[in-house]
Amino acid sequence: MGNLLEGKKGIIFGALNDMSIAWKVAERAVEEGAQVTLTNTALALRMGETQKLAEKLNTVVIPADATNIDDLTKVFEESQKVLGGKIDFVLHSIGMSPNVRKGKPYDGLDYNMLQTTLDISAISFHKMMQTASKIDAIAEGGSVLALSYIAAQRTFFGYDDMAEAKALLESFARSFGYVYGRSKGVRVNTISQSPTVTTAGSGVKGFNDLVDYAERMSPLGNASAEECANYCIVMFSDLTRKVTMQNLFHDGGFSSMGMSSLAMEQYNKN
Ligand SMILES: NC(=O)c1ccc[n+]([C@@H]2O[C@H](COP(=O)([O-])OP(=O)(O)OC[C@H]3O[C@@H](n4cnc5c(N)ncnc54)[C@H](O)[C@@H]3O)[C@@H](O)[C@H]2O)c1
Repeated sequence: MGNLLEGKKGIIFGALNDMSIAWKVAERAVEEGAQVTLTNTALALRMGETQKLAEKLNTVVIPADATNIDDLTKVFEESQKVLGGKIDFVLHSIGMSPNVRKGKPYDGLDYNMLQTTLDISAISFHKMMQTASKIDAIAEGGSVLALSYIAAQRTFFGYDDMAEAKALLESFARSFGYVYGRSKGVRVNTISQSPTVTTAGSGVKGFNDLVDYAERMSPLGNASAEECANYCIVMFSDLTRKVTMQNLFHDGGFSSMGMSSLAMEQYNKN
């Protein structure tokens, strides 16, 4: 399609099936001239379709649990071998909460599950950057992105302990953005995306109502996974070399709204 990422090398974490945001990002990155490797858990590789995407993009899948440092080291080492050099961009598109999955209410959280939520959905982002930095796997001026949600700032019924995970994720982007910026000129940001119909998204209680509410509240409507991929490409490109430590809303305007006419209509039914 274009050449915004011509010659760049990237790693995409979290493409499970063709609804996944990471799936769309991988496809768009290759369309824009990048070479990528894919990675996901062994379980996801069995249950999902990551291998199919790898075949389509003529690349490899490196199995890894993003909470495991040895696995992460392998992802960065193998990716550099396969792609032939240092990594220019990394997408963290990983989220999972056992509390959400089991439908635990916020005042009935299981604390072991909370640890798992934080480890998978947020601490893995720090681990990823610490591992890459330790073996100097990311090129000068590289770009690291994670996907977030506005429940980090405001309370959304049903989002449970994922709210804390997203708040931590965004904080890691700021703190590591400082360290990585100073040492290597690497940018670190999060994109706060509209609710999007995916496997992880649909696990949230009342998800369809949330999508409808956000659609009514957002002047531009909800942002799709494809549109999110486009924003990720811009953030990976050289057009955003001085953007770092930011949480960037990609939500059709939702985050600046209080009430909209379309949402108000819901209360004027008679
Ligand atoms: N779908 C939405 O409404 C929405 C909105 C805002 C942000 N996000 C975020 O976007 C990201 C991608 O989610 P998605 O909606 O595309 O859903 P998805 O289910 O397609 O992707 C989630 C991915 O996380 C992977 N994963 C889970 N545990 C892992 C582990 N231990 N190690 C490595 N990978 C692991 C899964 O295998 C899967 O590929 C998540 O961070 C999610 O919170 C989603």
